[in-house]
Amino acid sequence: MTHPPSAVDLLVRHATLPDGRSEIDLLVQAGRIAAVGPALAAPEGVPQLDAQGFLLSPPFVDAHFHMDATLSYGLPRVNESGTLLEGIALWGELKPHLTQEAVVERALAYCDWAVARGLLAIRSHVDVCDARLLAVEALLHVKERVRPYLDLQLVAFPQDGVLRSPGALANLERALDLGVDVVGGIPHFERTMADGAESVRLLCEIAAARGLRVDMHCDETDDPLSRHVETLAFQAQRLGLHGRVNGSHLTSMHSMDNYYVSKLIPLMAEAGLSAVANPLINITIQGRHDTYPKRRGMTRVPELMAAGLTVAFGHDCVMDPWYSLGSADMLEVAQMGLHVAQMTSQAGMRACFDAVTVNPARILGLEGYGLAPGCRADFVLLQARSPAEAIRLRAARLAVVRGGRIVARGAPATVELALPGRPAGVDFTRQA
Ligand code: FE2
Repeated sequence: MTHPPSAVDLLVRHATLPDGRSEIDLLVQAGRIAAVGPALAAPEGVPQLDAQGFLLSPPFVDAHFHMDATLSYGLPRVNESGTLLEGIALWGELKPHLTQEAVVERALAYCDWAVARGLLAIRSHVDVCDARLLAVEALLHVKERVRPYLDLQLVAFPQDGVLRSPGALANLERALDLGVDVVGGIPHFERTMADGAESVRLLCEIAAARGLRVDMHCDETDDPLSRHVETLAFQAQRLGLHGRVNGSHLTSMHSMDNYYVSKLIPLMAEAGLSAVANPLINITIQGRHDTYPKRRGMTRVPELMAAGLTVAFGHDCVMDPWYSLGSADMLEVAQMGLHVAQMTSQAGMRACFDAVTVNPARILGLEGYGLAPGCRADFVLLQARSPAEAIRLRAARLAVVRGGRIVARGAPATVELALPGRPAGVDFTRQA
C-alpha cells in the first residue's frame, strides 16, 4: 500500500458474479479493482460492503438513448396515436420551444434515475437539425456535469435527414467540432433510397476522416426492402471502420426475405458491424400498419449474435414524444428483449443480460469496463443470484458503486404478508 485508505478503497465481500462464481471478494484500491477472489485480505480501515451472496455485475450500459427529448412527455401535447411519425412530428413542434435550461434540467434528472438503476454509461443521440445547436450545447454541458458518476457519449443525429433537412450537414459538422463523439444518421428518412445510400457514404467518410465512430438509426421501418444496413456494412468495410460502426434499430431485418438475410448477416459480420435493438420501442412502434398477424419488428437478435456480431439492447426513449413509459431500468429493457426474441434458453437469458452490460460497453468503446483486476471499480449489486434472476425480478439495486464510491443505495424489495399459517415475509429469489 503506497496510499492511505480513502473513500475510493473498498472491499466487497461474499459476491456472486455473472459468470456464476460465488463467495467472491473484490478489493478496490484508488478507484480500480485490485484483486478478485475468495477470502481476500484488506488493509485495515478499508470500508466494506457485504454482498450477502447477491449478484455483483459491472454497471448497466445503454447504447441507444435520446437525452435531449427525455422526460418531455406531454410537451407541448401527448402523442395521441403512439406512432413513430406522430412522435417525429411532435418533436418538431417541441423543438422551437426548447430552452437550454430545460434540456439540462431534464437530462440531469434522467441521469439521477440512471444512477439509481445502476446505469452508469449512456450513448445518447442529440438532434443537430436545429441550427441553434441548443440541445448539443446543453448535452455537452451535461456530459461534463455528470462525468464523475456517469459516462455520457453523444451522437450527432440529423433527425430530419442529413440531406433532406437544409443545413443539417453543416450543423452536424459544427456539433462534431464542438466535441460530440459519434457520427449519426437516418438513411431511411431521406427522400429516396439513393439519397439514403448517399447519406451513409457521406457520414461514414466524415467519421473516417475524423477518426470517430458511427451509429446510425438504420432501417427503422417494417419495409423489407429498406436495405441501408447493406450500404452501412459496405462503407464500413471500404473505409476500414471495422468495430467502429453500429446499426441501430435495423427493424426492417425482421421483415426481410430469409434468403437475402442469409447473405446480409455474414457481410455485416465481415465489416465488423455491431447492432442495437430497442425492444420496448420496436415492439410498440413497428407493425403499426399491420392488421393481424402483427409483426414484432425487432431485428434478428439471436441470429446476429450467432454470427458473432456484438448486439446490445437499448432503451431509446423514456417519457418523450415517442414513448410515454420507462424509468431508466435496463433490466426492463432486457426482459422485453428476451421475450420478443424468444431468448428463453439458458444461454439466451444470459445473452440478454450481456446485451445490457458487456456488449453495449464494447459498442461504446468504454475503457476499463468489467470486473477483472485493473478495471474501473464501477459495479452494481443486485438483489438476485444470477443474471437470469436479475432479469426475471428486475432486481432491486442494493448498491451502485462508481470508482469505488457508493453513489446509490437501495432497499431490498420486501412485502409484508398477513396470511394465516404463512411466513410474514415473501422472498421472490428462488434458484433452479
Ligand atoms: Fe433512437
